[in-house]
Amino acid sequence: MVDLMGLDRAASIDDLRLRARRRIPRFAFDLVDGGAESERNMRRNIEAFEEVELTPRYMVDVSDIDMRATLFGQTYGAPFGMAPIGMLNAFWPGADLTLAKLCKRRNIPYVASSAASTTLEALATAADGNGWFQLYVSSDADVTEGLIARAEAAGYTTMLVTADVPAAGKRDRDIRNQLAVPFRITPEVVAGLIANPRWSLETLIHGKPNIANYADLLQGATSYADVQKTLITPGFTWEDLKRLRARWKGKLLVKGILHPQDAAQCAELGCDGIVVSNHGGRQVAFGPATIDALPAIAETVGGRMTIILDSGIRRGADMFRAKARGADFTFAGRALAFGVGAGGQRGAERAFDILQLELIRALGQLGVPSFAAVGSS
Ligand SMILES: Cc1cc2nc3c(=O)[nH]c(=O)nc-3n(C[C@H](O)[C@H](O)[C@H](O)COP(=O)(O)O)c2cc1C
Repeated sequence: MVDLMGLDRAASIDDLRLRARRRIPRFAFDLVDGGAESERNMRRNIEAFEEVELTPRYMVDVSDIDMRATLFGQTYGAPFGMAPIGMLNAFWPGADLTLAKLCKRRNIPYVASSAASTTLEALATAADGNGWFQLYVSSDADVTEGLIARAEAAGYTTMLVTADVPAAGKRDRDIRNQLAVPFRITPEVVAGLIANPRWSLETLIHGKPNIANYADLLQGATSYADVQKTLITPGFTWEDLKRLRARWKGKLLVKGILHPQDAAQCAELGCDGIVVSNHGGRQVAFGPATIDALPAIAETVGGRMTIILDSGIRRGADMFRAKARGADFTFAGRALAFGVGAGGQRGAERAFDILQLELIRALGQLGVPSFAAVGSS
């Protein structure tokens, strides 16, 4: 196929990010690209990966590289999945379904966010057996139970409960861009729409993005506080996690773990796994990079439960680094989102290919022909 968009010339995830920035209005780009406060934690996630050096071993036969990974009895085509991202259709119209279908085609997990801009039922259909569900615990127990019951009915068998949002993160870019509920049309927004006609047209076709799973509940919302109360709660505790564990019959993982003792407590409560994550540096600016937090966690709960790592994955070698430090699997958030922003479905494919080819090369260069065999040595 002729590469009219020049996506084949995007060599890295960072190249795709720059392409996305050129096609998307500032307020929508920043919504995904931004982090908490000074964004130190967001930058640190990436720097810390780069600081983990890997020493190649040579004269190993690497003519047949196997990067598959098995989780909970299902074998995936690559050791990374799509992290849950809320309101992603605001970044690029139709992004949720594009990514859910990509994950099915490439046989990797797709995690449907509670706050997605597409319903969890439609995402389960698109991901077709590769869908996992991410739960935000609401301040209203009926809202939480309603989501769980819907996820069950839609056929999800793996649920991630996100623990790292006792309050919404403070994102300075969104404040500067005057992102508000209800959405306000400012002169900057109008300028952004005119400067990005493709995005504006696609948004017109797809309709205004919303938080689809809560569309009815949020219809009357007049402030961020209303939205937050529906979506999250500062009152989520270990007691609630215990109840969720008893309630959810499928696999249950807790997302947003950074402290070894929290990881140990998840294991004691019978959780099947954790996601070592700092929400891509969107919650706080002062925390550790996830690749730095990982070794102590792996030492505490490794072998007792599945460990997944996200936040800052931008290169195939990052997955190798995560596995070498004790993770079983990884999630990419922005990396795949930037692909969609750069070129819709073809951009998403390009992002996947870049990560996959980089990982295959890393395994070959490092003399480890199978991802499953990557260890600390
Ligand atoms: C725009 C945006 C929205 C997100 N929404 C959610 C969400 O709804 N639920 C959740 O658990 N994590 C959410 N996350 C965090 C991601 O699941 C993941 O932890 C993070 O993107 C990983 O960092 P990375 O983007 O550097 O890969 C969001 C991240 C971004 C960038």
